[in-house]
Amino acid sequence: MTAVEIKKDIYWVGAIDWAVRDFHGYETPRGTTYNNYLILDDEITLVDTVKDDFADVTIKNIKSLTSFDNIKHIVINHIENDHVSSIDRIMNLAPNATIYITEKGKKGLARFFDISRWNIKIVKSGDTLKIGKRTLVFLETPMLHWPDSMVTYIPYDKLLISQDAFGQHLASAARFDDEFITCESVYELDDAVLDYYANILMPFGQLIKAKIAEVQKLGLEIDMIAPDHGVIWRANPGKILQMYMDMANGKAKESVSIIYDTMWHSTEIMTTPIMQGIKDEGLDCKIIKLRAAPMSLAVKEFWKSRGTLFGTPTINNVMFPTVAEILYHLKGLRPKNRIVGAFGSFGWGGGAVKEAYEEFKKMGLEIFEPGLQVNYKPSLEDEKKCYDFGKEFAKKVKEYHQKF
Ligand code: FEO
Repeated sequence: MTAVEIKKDIYWVGAIDWAVRDFHGYETPRGTTYNNYLILDDEITLVDTVKDDFADVTIKNIKSLTSFDNIKHIVINHIENDHVSSIDRIMNLAPNATIYITEKGKKGLARFFDISRWNIKIVKSGDTLKIGKRTLVFLETPMLHWPDSMVTYIPYDKLLISQDAFGQHLASAARFDDEFITCESVYELDDAVLDYYANILMPFGQLIKAKIAEVQKLGLEIDMIAPDHGVIWRANPGKILQMYMDMANGKAKESVSIIYDTMWHSTEIMTTPIMQGIKDEGLDCKIIKLRAAPMSLAVKEFWKSRGTLFGTPTINNVMFPTVAEILYHLKGLRPKNRIVGAFGSFGWGGGAVKEAYEEFKKMGLEIFEPGLQVNYKPSLEDEKKCYDFGKEFAKKVKEYHQKF
């Protein structure tokens, strides 16, 4: 896609990755984009680069607007590979440009590249760079989501270039939120935001709250947010800020997800009466079988619902591997404000449900106990127990949801 003017003399010069489905293990069914921006002011400035596979695309887009000889400044907001792995090629074309980056960014960059040839200026929160009629303001956002991260604010245009924050893994010909909503739907966009937040930013809710509060305290006027992935928030930047605040404050649907796996269908059979009990208590319920769905989808559904039940058969006295895997993954994502429980079938010794609860406790989640186990295949009597288990869990979810 050719360069797109997002504000007068500020251009998106990035690339659309329609094909990516595995983003360091996070499944991205909608693809993604790598956004970077070229500012044509007295001193031409490039903000961010793209994944190296797409270096030719951004180079072509930049060349359509200016010669690389004219680029005076390059801002690196974040050094993860999807944004910085083409910097070597960019710097070969613009060897006299100066890079602006945080101290931790510079240290990290040196681990990936020989930076001795490059002019690099370290910046910190509040530092500015005058490039003509515009002045860029840098604001560090450490651990959002890497130690090096920062954002760049341009008061002249009321534009926040926010690197990963507020992004979505969403390949689309639409560059702006309003365009995307017209072509696709609000639901699709909201779901992509949620998916991204759940899988990338979930551990950083408290930092996000603090950083948004800091921005509000600084009184920055923002009428556009341009992230490094997905659509640019032109029509409604307030919406994405509010969504982030809501998620950081623990917002979830008053609903239940059942995430399970099964060996010979016994644990799977349990899910249906459990779901019925939940439904009869008035809550929506979604069932996800782990080997039939990407883990990132299960993580998203976990995050969307106030309550989740994990179903796991016992194998060799422990959890089924896919269930153990998602709990291990969730532990790293440090979820908060969610209630969980577990159920499953066992043949002789049992152990999976107990182990699941041990993991829940380590995560500090709200817990619904006791879990439910059935021996071999659920009998009709067991199915009644499953129904009651679902009903009781739904009651607890409703009670817990009142706190938010
Ligand atoms: Fe899109 Fe943290 O990189």
